[in-house]
Amino acid sequence: MTPDEFRALGHELIEWVAAYRERMASLPVQSQVQPGQIRAALPASPPEAGGGLAAAIDALDRIVVPGLTHWNHPRFFAYFPSNTDLSSVLADLVCAGLGAQGMSWQTSPAATEVEQVVMDWLRQLLGLSPAWTGVIHDTASTATLCALLCARERASGLAQRGPGLQAGAAPLVVYTSAQAHSSVAKAAMLAGFGAHHLRAIATDAAYALRPDALAAAIADDVAAGRRPCAVVATVGTTATTAIDPLAAIAAVCARHEVWLHVDAALAGTAMILPECRALWDGVEAADSLVVNPHKWLGTGFDLSAYFVRDPDHLIRVMATDPSYLRTAHDGAVVNFRDWHIPLGRRFRALKLWFVLLDHGAEGLRARLRRDLANARWLADQVDATPGWQRLAPVPLQTVCVRHAPPGVTDEGALAAHNLGIAARINAGGGAAITPSVVDGVQLLRVSVGALPTERADVAAVWALLQREAAAAAH
Ligand SMILES: Cc1ncc(COP(=O)(O)O)c(C=O)c1O
Repeated sequence: MTPDEFRALGHELIEWVAAYRERMASLPVQSQVQPGQIRAALPASPPEAGGGLAAAIDALDRIVVPGLTHWNHPRFFAYFPSNTDLSSVLADLVCAGLGAQGMSWQTSPAATEVEQVVMDWLRQLLGLSPAWTGVIHDTASTATLCALLCARERASGLAQRGPGLQAGAAPLVVYTSAQAHSSVAKAAMLAGFGAHHLRAIATDAAYALRPDALAAAIADDVAAGRRPCAVVATVGTTATTAIDPLAAIAAVCARHEVWLHVDAALAGTAMILPECRALWDGVEAADSLVVNPHKWLGTGFDLSAYFVRDPDHLIRVMATDPSYLRTAHDGAVVNFRDWHIPLGRRFRALKLWFVLLDHGAEGLRARLRRDLANARWLADQVDATPGWQRLAPVPLQTVCVRHAPPGVTDEGALAAHNLGIAARINAGGGAAITPSVVDGVQLLRVSVGALPTERADVAAVWALLQREAAAAAH
């Protein structure tokens, strides 16, 4: 493709994306296609001749858009907000257009230095002390894996450089809450701890990790000759946005020299609001922290912010030094390839930079405050409406509810009824919500926070919930 051809089709595609965003509110939120439908619309073999890109827009309209669930739709209340602000879309275009590799400082100095600056801006926005240094990862899952690798290597005295896990006399143990995201268990297993050495610590009535139960589990392991290695605490659990009490957890960790990693994948964004920071009181005592700007901050997937207090340790664990990657500047610069698992890295920092430039801290704070107020409004409606139950506190933007028709007390029947409500809402296309099971109870999660979601949209999903509950009850 020549630059002129790019210019022509590129302008059309920018127009197409803008028009998609404008008409998105009229589309069904959740894709209504059946399994296999999209595949069947595509040829089974690759094109022999080129020139097919001229029909790309038609194919996007006919084949792709019907097969999308629209995460930036004003009535998207499923999973978690995964916002892609249009400023971030432009940054992705620039990133691809530049095609730069930022694995070492020398491979594109701007990629490294812009990232250093925007990660420090983010640190300041989150109210974190200068003791933290940030690096961009793809996802929270990878960041948590890195954290557990760093914890393992601190406990084992860098055993990976020698015998690895095979040499330790005492098995290393990881602790997290029973409500932690599945990425924590996955990371513990991938890092070699083994499922037998992962403890799911009990939670309290608000689904937050109980520090006393953590201390007891650690004491049991020590007594049995095992070695406590890491705790992964969650600020904003996936199911209910429960907040693990970091200060109390950090005190337990300090007593046993245990690594504390904080998974604030969703809720970390809220910390740009000073009034939310009490929720992660104690965070300064952690060793590592992950926040996903690709969730609620508007920075399109994927951009996960991993902060550490000891970058030298991270580098000791992650660095490799093959001759073909050495440069004359290595002693004086940051080479981000040594700060995570992949070697190659694209210029993701552009996305965060563009979002921050476009909205400023004030604009981002105003949007988050809108979402928090909307979630609180919905919680109040649920609390005030007979037949509806709110099943978890609402510290942030997720409201967990269920409908209990009069006279129905059997848990199985209640679960089927609520699953029916979710299925009807999602199939209808008027909104998308996610059913989830917490402590054996089937609930419906309404996660507020898509970029265009206003109070009227939250009122609309509440009306839909009530309508479909009445319909499902008959
Ligand atoms: C608390 C928490 N941690 C981790 C993740 C995983 O995030 P990622 O997709 O960035 O790996 C999620 C995703 O929903 C989450 O809610």
